[in-house]
Amino acid sequence: MFLANILNDPVCQPIKKPYELWYKFMEENIEFWMPDSEWHTKTHCARVLLLALLIGNQKGLSDEEMDALGMAAIFHDSRRLDDGIDEGHGRRAAEYYKDYCHEHHLPYNAQTYYITCYHDQDDSLGLSEIAKSPCLSERGMLLYQIFKDADALDRFRLGPDALNVNMLRTEEAHGLVDFAKYLLQKSHETNL
Ligand SMILES: [Fe+2]
Ligand SMILES: [Fe+2]
Repeated sequence: MFLANILNDPVCQPIKKPYELWYKFMEENIEFWMPDSEWHTKTHCARVLLLALLIGNQKGLSDEEMDALGMAAIFHDSRRLDDGIDEGHGRRAAEYYKDYCHEHHLPYNAQTYYITCYHDQDDSLGLSEIAKSPCLSERGMLLYQIFKDADALDRFRLGPDALNVNMLRTEEAHGLVDFAKYLLQKSHETNL
C-alpha cells in the first residue's frame, strides 16, 4: 500500500480506512491517460487523497462528503494530455467519472463531478458554477475549496517554492504545510 509508512502516524488514524479504500479503488480500476506522467501520477493523486481526507476530517465532514472528496482525488488528473496547465483535463476527468459510475452501476455524486470538473479553473469560475448548480449546496463550495487546497499542498513536488501559502483557502490547509512536505519525503521513501 503506497504511503503505508505514514498511515500509522497518529495524525492519519482517523482517515486510514477511507484512504486505503480509495487508494485500492484507484489502483484496481482507474485508467490514467498519461501513466508515465512526470508530475501527475497516481502517487500525486494518492497524496492529494490523503491531504483532502485530513482537511475534511478536521472540518468534520460527513462520510458521504468524505467519499465525494476521495472519488475526486483519485479521478482528478486521470485524463491529462500533457503535464502543463492542460485546461479542460478537469472536465474530461469528470466525464470519465460520470461514465464510470453509469457503466459500473455505482452511485453518482454531483459534488465529485463539479469538484473534478472545475479543479483546473480559477476559484471564481468554479465557485460560481457550483453556486449555480441546482443540486449542490454551499457544502459543495466548501468541498471544492478543500479539494483545491489538497491539490495545492502537493505542489512541493514541483520545487520548494512552488506553493504560495497565501493562496491556500482553508485554515486547516495552512496547518498542514509542514505535513505536506513530510508526506512528500515519506512518499519518496515508499518508492525506493
Ligand atoms: Fe489537475
Ligand atoms: Fe492534481
